[in-house]
Amino acid sequence: MTSTTHKGRFVTLEGIDGAGKSTHAAWLAQALIDRGRTVVATREPGGTPLGERLRDLLLAEPMTHDTEALLMFAARREHVEHVIRPALARGDVVLCDRFTDATYAYQGGGHGVDAKRIAALEDWVHGDLVPDLTLVFDVPIAVSRERLDRNAAAGHTLDKFERERASFFERVRACYLARAAADPRRCRVIDSSRPLDVVRGELAAIAAAL
Ligand code: TMP
Repeated sequence: MTSTTHKGRFVTLEGIDGAGKSTHAAWLAQALIDRGRTVVATREPGGTPLGERLRDLLLAEPMTHDTEALLMFAARREHVEHVIRPALARGDVVLCDRFTDATYAYQGGGHGVDAKRIAALEDWVHGDLVPDLTLVFDVPIAVSRERLDRNAAAGHTLDKFERERASFFERVRACYLARAAADPRRCRVIDSSRPLDVVRGELAAIAAAL
């Protein structure tokens, strides 16, 4: 896998809430470190001091769907300039827990923000920067809901997005799957409802090929 625009590897991790993405992200980061790679594990919204403050607002405050999209991209601009581009220029592997596909899926698919508007922001904020690989962790909505409800029962307070209804997540999931189908060279859908060791086997092969 080679990239024409940067030395490192830019890998993004996507999926609906409760798809097990964050657990797999941590495992994949360690697998890459074990293979001698320098890994920058980061997340969106967030990844910079200002981005993390915007994250707190985005995950808690009611706001219009357009404001949500704009703030996601404001946080992203900080992240791309201060964290992602420098790491890729050094030759590191950037493992980014969500990126612009999430805005298409959540604000676009979920909330109905026009994809053309999202595309305009994408072009402005990170024009030539495209992930080398996007892993879409996919589970049926019933499975993700059960995981989120289990977390809530264990004392984790659900954020604004995690409290959304099943129909919202159906639209988000459909958007992720449509984007993955439209760009199979970049995107790989990982069936995250399989046993952990099976998913890890697939991730180990991906780490070896990066
Ligand atoms: P996380 O649960 O993966 O940390 O992500 C935080 C939430 O933010 C998640 O519910 C998805 C949402 N989100 C968007 O709605 N749009 C975006 O562009 C990003 C990056 C995240």
